[in-house]
Order: sequence, then structure tokens, then C-alpha cells
Amino acid sequence: MFPTLRTWWSFLTMLSSNKAGPAVDVTPMPPAHRPPNVLLIVADDLGWNDVGWHNPKMKTPTLNRLAEEGVTLNYSYVHPVCTPSRAAILTGYYPFKTGLQHGALRKDKPYGLPLSYRLLPERLRDLGYSTHMIGKWHLGFCRWQYTPTYRGFDSFLGFYTGAQDYYKHKTFGLRGYDFRYNTTIHKKRRSKYSTFAFARRAIDVVKAHDTEKPLFLYLSFQAVHLPFQVPQRFEDMYKHVKQKKRRIYSGMVTAMDRAIGKIYSALVRRKMIKNTLLVFISDNGGAANRGGGNNWPLRGGKSTLWEGGTRVPTFVWGRMLRKKSYTNNALVHAVDWLPTILAAAGAKPESFMTMDGINQWRTISRRAPPRRKEFIYGMNEISGRAAIRMGKYKLMVGKPGRYGGHYRPRQRRRKKAGRGLNTNASRRHLNITKLFNIEDDPTERTNIAKMYPKIVTRMKARLAYYRRHLVPALNPRKLRKAHPKHWGKVWTPGWC
Ligand SMILES: *[C@@H]1O[C@H](CO)[C@@H](O)[C@H](O)[C@H]1NC(C)=O
Ligand SMILES: *[C@@H]1O[C@H](CO)[C@@H](O)[C@H](O)[C@H]1NC(C)=O
Ligand SMILES: *[C@@H]1O[C@H](CO)[C@@H](O)[C@H](O)[C@H]1NC(C)=O
Ligand SMILES: *[C@@H]1O[C@H](CO)[C@@H](O)[C@H](O)[C@H]1NC(C)=O
Repeated sequence: MFPTLRTWWSFLTMLSSNKAGPAVDVTPMPPAHRPPNVLLIVADDLGWNDVGWHNPKMKTPTLNRLAEEGVTLNYSYVHPVCTPSRAAILTGYYPFKTGLQHGALRKDKPYGLPLSYRLLPERLRDLGYSTHMIGKWHLGFCRWQYTPTYRGFDSFLGFYTGAQDYYKHKTFGLRGYDFRYNTTIHKKRRSKYSTFAFARRAIDVVKAHDTEKPLFLYLSFQAVHLPFQVPQRFEDMYKHVKQKKRRIYSGMVTAMDRAIGKIYSALVRRKMIKNTLLVFISDNGGAANRGGGNNWPLRGGKSTLWEGGTRVPTFVWGRMLRKKSYTNNALVHAVDWLPTILAAAGAKPESFMTMDGINQWRTISRRAPPRRKEFIYGMNEISGRAAIRMGKYKLMVGKPGRYGGHYRPRQRRRKKAGRGLNTNASRRHLNITKLFNIEDDPTERTNIAKMYPKIVTRMKARLAYYRRHLVPALNPRKLRKAHPKHWGKVWTPGWC
């Protein structure tokens, strides 16, 4: 069940030196620490400016404290929308390699995260972990094999699609119920606000956990995605916020903070906290155009390649971190979480070497020198857009995505602008090559492409190199037989 001593030894020696020396032959003492429990919390659509440590107006006392005590990652990147980000986190590969680069998965399209990829929970299971998932999946469910309990999770409480009513657990557009415990339709918590239903389930998992084994809990909150719903008492905490959507949204963030506090307390009560590694991240930036989430001062938001869509609040917390209470400015990307968590859990480095992800465990936990020099923000051959980061430079080609302005939280939607703010702002610079120096210009105000043609050429060449590894995006036609009306009004696998 547990990694062998040899595994541990190679892990420990890997930590202390880059070379395998003669010390490997010495019979090691049993390791002093055990593989950590891992609590991976992914918030949905939480923007840069929506957490207390970036914006004091947001009431997130639990998250503030954990971020303060742990390691705050200042340059943590994900993809512009949720399906690609979640695929990257759970596989360690860029979405353009798994075919999931083309936006969020539509609930009536017959595909999912390809079954050839072994996900983080499956890999942690190999190391002896109990693995549980709570919350939003959004990586495909047209066939049972795509769903969480078939992909490495011992248990699952949550929903398969991307968005729904927080209380009724019904989807919009094509309407259907979507809430399950393992594979069974679950109606018990029907009227409970999902943030607290998920916290309750997390606490139950912690209570029932056999502490002989390490625990992996993937807590993928519905919060703070649309629709704007929160128990009144949380909205009331933001009475001073005039704009209704922003007020409710802020309450949703605070409700999530409260839920995380409750789970933290449960880990304390079970004495599991001292060996728990907590990772907190958002799957993409705030959907600034909808009036809720906010990424100020970063540019753009969800579904764009701008920093506001891809640079997200992130921290790591745990007593096992050797260096803590500091801000780390290393580049970290969604694909890094799989190797990083596996390294923290004591997996053999060989088992995660061939992925796009880089093991950032030493960089984060010991403040070792940064390892990542470049990454892909996104690459989508259907929309023709892509962005790459190389050191301080960011190059974008194609359309970065709609709503590319700088939005303050107080900004109201203008009727004239149609469905969102500054609808035309992004049109002005649609398909021009853009180069930014993110270190000097983190809010992407000055396109320097014309000043540095050589850098542009070099970065385009690098992008072309990555493009050679692109697999065509999965983008099948939607299927009528997916419709819940054929499945007892419930979103149900079995149609692909
Ligand atoms: C879900 O699966 C886990 C692990 O197999 C099991 O312990 C639990 O009882 C299951 N729950 C339901 C409702 O089937
Ligand atoms: C936009 O740029 C992409 C990538 O460079 C290119 O493939 C596409 O043809 C361009 N589209 C337009 C309308 O210029
Ligand atoms: C946006 O652009 C269109 C066409 O270029 C124009 O007709 C419209 O008035 C513009 N809207 C705003 C809000 O500027
Ligand atoms: C985080 O990054 C910003 C640039 O976006 C920089 O101004 C700031 O100093 C960094 N924070 C820390 C604590 O290094």
C-alpha cells in the first residue's frame, strides 16, 4: 500500500542531491514522515481580485490566514476556461495534447477526457492513497468510463456538467437534474446550498477516513461560478456593495471561505492537519463581463488568454513546507500540479518525467530556484489563437478572446455594450501579434511586438515547435439522445 522504502529513499536522496551517489546502497532508516494527506481545492471562476489577500474588501479570513501561513504563488497560471484547466491539473499534460483545448465541454457532446490518460487520483491510489472527489467534474460523462468513480476516485459526490442551480442541482438551457453520490442519483441534499453540501461531504470523508492511509481529496467547488446564488446572510455581509451581482458574488466567495474553514476544523479534530498539504487554486479568471468576478488590475477575464483569464489566486499550505509565509514568484502552471503533488507524496520521479508538468515541490516547499522557464497559455487550432510565455515575455497570436479590457469591480454593465462591458474593446486588437513584458507590464498595456521583432520570431518558432505536438481538438456534434428527457430528466451516461 505504501511506497516501498526504496521509493522513499530515492525520493529523499532526490531531495537532497541531484545525483544518485553511493548512499543509495546504505539501508535507510524508515522515513520520519509519511506521505501527506492532500486536499486539492479548485474554486470555479474565482478572479484575481476576488480574494482577501489581493483585495481587502473581500472577506476571506480562512483563506487569508492559510495563504499568509503557507506559500502564496504569485505567478500561477491555468487555462482560460474550466475543462482545459481541469484536464491539465489531473493529467499533467497541456490540453492541446489531450484534445481538450477547445473550450468548455458542452453537456450534450459525446466526448470526455480520453481514457488513455491516467489521472492524479489513479496515480495516488498506486501510492496507497484513499481518493475522494467532491463537486464539479466537467471532464465528460457520456459513458460511465469517463466519470470520477471510474477514473481513480473511491467516492464522488457532485455533478458531471459545468454549471447548475446551487440548490436544485438542475442545469440551464437543456434542463436536467445532475447530482450524484458515486454513480447513484442523489436527491437527499437537494435543497442544500452546494458549497455547504460539499463541505458536509468533505467533513464526512475526513471523519470516516482510515488514518493508516494517506487521504487525497479533490474538492472542486461549484462556487463561485454562475448563477448568482448565496444564502442571504452572506449577501448581507456586503451591504455596502451597490451592484447586486457583485454583492451576491462576494457573498458566494465568503460562503466558500466559511466552508473551507469548517473542513480545516474537521482535519484538526481528527489530528490529520499536521500532515495535510493543502493546495488552493482557481480554474480560470473571473468572468468579468458577467458582473460578478473581477481580475483588476489584470487585463481581460475568463475565456481570454489575457492575464486576467489565466493568472489566478493560488497558495500551498502545510506544516511539511520547509519554507513558508512567503510569496513565491516562480512560474507555475496547471500542468505542474500532478508531478508536484506526486513528488510530495513520494512517487518515483521516473513516473512523472515525460509529462508537460514540472515537479515544483522543491521550488515551493524549500524555495529552491525556479524551474519553469516557459509555458503555453492556450493553443486552439479551431479559433486560431495561442499564447506562449518565455521568461518575462508573453506572445499572443490570433484573437485573445472577448472582453479584453481592464475592469474594476464597481463597473456596471452598460446597456449599449450588449451582453457585456466594452464589447468593442477587444475588437480593436483582434488578430494582431502581441508581445508583452509581463514583469514590467503585468497588466498588458503596451504591445511591444514592433520593438522586438527578433523576440517575436523566436517565440513564434517555439510556438510552432509546440504546435507540432498538437492533437486535433475533440469537438463532436451535439447529440439529441444526450437530452435528460430520454433519461428520466437526469443527466446520465450511456449515449456514446
Ligand atoms: C461509494 O463508493 C465508496 C467506495 O467504494 C463506498 O465506500 C461508498 O459506500 C459508496 N457510496 C455509495 C452511496 O454507493
Ligand atoms: C488570425 O491569426 C491566426 C493565427 O496567426 C490565423 O491563422 C488566422 O488566419 C487569422 N485570422 C484572420 C481573420 O486574420
Ligand atoms: C461596436 O462596433 C460596432 C461596429 O463596428 C458599432 O456599430 C457599435 O456602435 C460599437 N459599439 C460600441 C458600444 O461602441
Ligand atoms: C507579485 O507580482 C506583482 C506583479 O504582477 C508584483 O508587483 C508584486 O511585487 C509581486 N508580489 C510579491 C510579494 O513579490
